[in-house]
Amino acid sequence: MTPPDSVFPDDAFSRLDEGDDAEFYATDRFVSHLDSTALDTVTDLVERLVPEGQSTILDLMASWDSHLPKSLEGATVVGLGLNRNELERNEAVSECVVHDLNADPVLPFNDERFDAVLCTVSVDYLARPVEVFREVARVLKPGGLFLVVFSNRYFPPKVVKIWREASDEERVQLVKEYFRLCDAFHEPRDFVSAGRPRPAGDRYADSGLPSDPVYAVFADRKGGSAATRQLQSLEAPGAEVDPEALRDRRRMVARTLLCPHCEQPLSRWQVPQTPFVEWSSTYQFICFNDACPYYMGGWKTFENQGIPGSYRFMYDPDSGGCHSVPVLTPTALRASIVATEDPHDQSGLG
Ligand SMILES: C[S@@+](CC[C@H](N)C(=O)[O-])C[C@H]1O[C@@H](n2cnc3c(N)ncnc32)[C@H](O)[C@@H]1O
Repeated sequence: MTPPDSVFPDDAFSRLDEGDDAEFYATDRFVSHLDSTALDTVTDLVERLVPEGQSTILDLMASWDSHLPKSLEGATVVGLGLNRNELERNEAVSECVVHDLNADPVLPFNDERFDAVLCTVSVDYLARPVEVFREVARVLKPGGLFLVVFSNRYFPPKVVKIWREASDEERVQLVKEYFRLCDAFHEPRDFVSAGRPRPAGDRYADSGLPSDPVYAVFADRKGGSAATRQLQSLEAPGAEVDPEALRDRRRMVARTLLCPHCEQPLSRWQVPQTPFVEWSSTYQFICFNDACPYYMGGWKTFENQGIPGSYRFMYDPDSGGCHSVPVLTPTALRASIVATEDPHDQSGLG
């Protein structure tokens, strides 16, 4: 059968380094490919999507850590990758398979062997993705889950061109397309966690960069009973807020000067003097908590509309109004925070 990868441009799956993958990955890399906050998100996602119990799991394109939750400690895990030392160091894996998926996309497993297949931060290296996705469907039990997780970091020489040239949102759509082209999965769903604070002590902690974003696209193999996964609980962490409590807290902002979304103190922020925007007052109060659910959810909301960035909660002391202020990066607007011990003290601010 002609692989349906042909719906993509001819050079879509070309790579800067077309050399032997086995050779490239022969060097051991006992590194973490994401920061610890992002890796916790991956583990949490697996926990929420893969039922606890004696599952048989394939970790596709695996290395020394499969990022599995405690709930899957009893699972039988097969790791397939290109570096035997890394696979043998992986404590979750009980069977190591060294196999080059770009040289041969056929998986060396019987039909319907696995309850779930996971592929973490690796789908961008697949030069024949639809063939591999179709093979994943073959080795999955009907109703079994294929979870593909990725971020925005990679080894450039080995990533396919179409991935290198795509935005994060386009990559989500691309992976969905791989699923659809197999015609073997139910409609894929996606999950995004972006804009969370970087973990303290991380080598980039002082750079102002947020934690590595986590994107996931997942679907169940057709043919099984209706999926029972708790999909509704898949909002990015912190996104659930009781609307009534939120309304009460908004009414009290003038008195508390706390963000109604995260209940952290608002920062007094000096309004910039520009000829372009007229502000009603010389200062505002803004929530600069990077873990605030309003701000965290804003990345996803904006992304869905094709807009870069997020927004923060802002309170206008003159009008008493609650607003949002857009921010392109986590550090945006911070330079105008006014340090003051008592946020209610309005002296010297005009
Ligand atoms: C960025 S690492 C991710 C490893 C692991 N999944 C994780 O979450 O840490 C990419 C992995 O893909 C595997 N890989 C890359 N090209 C491959 C190929 N052609 N066939 C099979 N595995 C491959 C490598 O062995 C490597 O461990």
